[in-house]
Amino acid sequence: MMANQVVICKELKSELETFLSGCSYDKLFVLTDANTQEKCFPLIQDVPQLKGAPVITIPAGDTHKDIEQLSVIWTALSTQGASRHSLLLNLGGGMITDIGGFAGATFKRGIRTVNIPTTLMASVDAAVGGKTGINFNGLKNEIGAFYPPLCVFIDCEFLRTLDRGNLLSGYAEMIKHGLISSREIYRHVLSFDLDQTPDYAALNQLVAESVAVKERIVEEDPKEQGIRKALNLGHTIGHAFESLSFTRQRPLLHGHAVAAGLVAELYLSYKETGFPMHTLTQAVSFIKEYYPVFQFGCNDYDALYELMTHDKKNENGIINFTLLSDIGEVRINQSVSKERVLESLDFYRDRFGI
Ligand code: GLY
Repeated sequence: MMANQVVICKELKSELETFLSGCSYDKLFVLTDANTQEKCFPLIQDVPQLKGAPVITIPAGDTHKDIEQLSVIWTALSTQGASRHSLLLNLGGGMITDIGGFAGATFKRGIRTVNIPTTLMASVDAAVGGKTGINFNGLKNEIGAFYPPLCVFIDCEFLRTLDRGNLLSGYAEMIKHGLISSREIYRHVLSFDLDQTPDYAALNQLVAESVAVKERIVEEDPKEQGIRKALNLGHTIGHAFESLSFTRQRPLLHGHAVAAGLVAELYLSYKETGFPMHTLTQAVSFIKEYYPVFQFGCNDYDALYELMTHDKKNENGIINFTLLSDIGEVRINQSVSKERVLESLDFYRDRFGI
């Protein structure tokens, strides 16, 4: 599987124009959701190759990352003359790059896709690395394929219209990339000024560094047989928090759940694989400063543990954790006793005063 090319843009329109003029295709399609059609498409619509390109627009929101909207995209491609040599440009957050990537993977057994992520979460995670898919039967990302886009264009200019909650949501994946890579990258992530309106040029640099971490890992292990599991740090417990939050009608943004999951899983790392306490304390204070507290009590422990046992990354019914023995020292496929997992929930509650 070819790794995708990632371009950290200085001038998105001209870089996209140059890329498209060097790319052979018979017809270009653009996929947006209702929000990105209004707020983001105007930023690229002057690119000459996009003049007259059919724009397929679906409703915004993860609940629409489903078989109905996939069918809408397939139908639009089919009725508007897409062939195997057409190109689909996905302009949006992770919902659009996931469903558009999967539409691309499946239409006529595969047409090429280009991702232009418009959220921080999509820029540093969803749009890069080739995971595509839809939700099905009430399960997130139940159907999908590894199908890398031809190219990903990242431009933090899109983030100017992103609210703070979503900015921090994407930032949680950058904290994770720092933790699994090196002290230097981690230090850059912790020292970026999140208190002010971000310096978008500086953020672009930080995003470049963060995406490079993911690219290196995906290149080594595109289909998550081994080291790509490093990217799951914080996600086993984080997904359980996220799922619980949905059943309690107080939905957490994905990255906010991951940040809370990182706290619990770094505690497991401290207990199980020797992660240093002072580094754990530093991570906890950063997350406490910027992320909302996820409210839960010991009555929720069984439900949370049950949710962890259903994580699709488990093997043979054993919860499969990714832990660290230090920054950049990843330990995949760690099994941990139930008692210890519940202890990590106690740790979260204790540190967050709930
Ligand atoms: N979001 C984690 C991965 O792409 O593997």
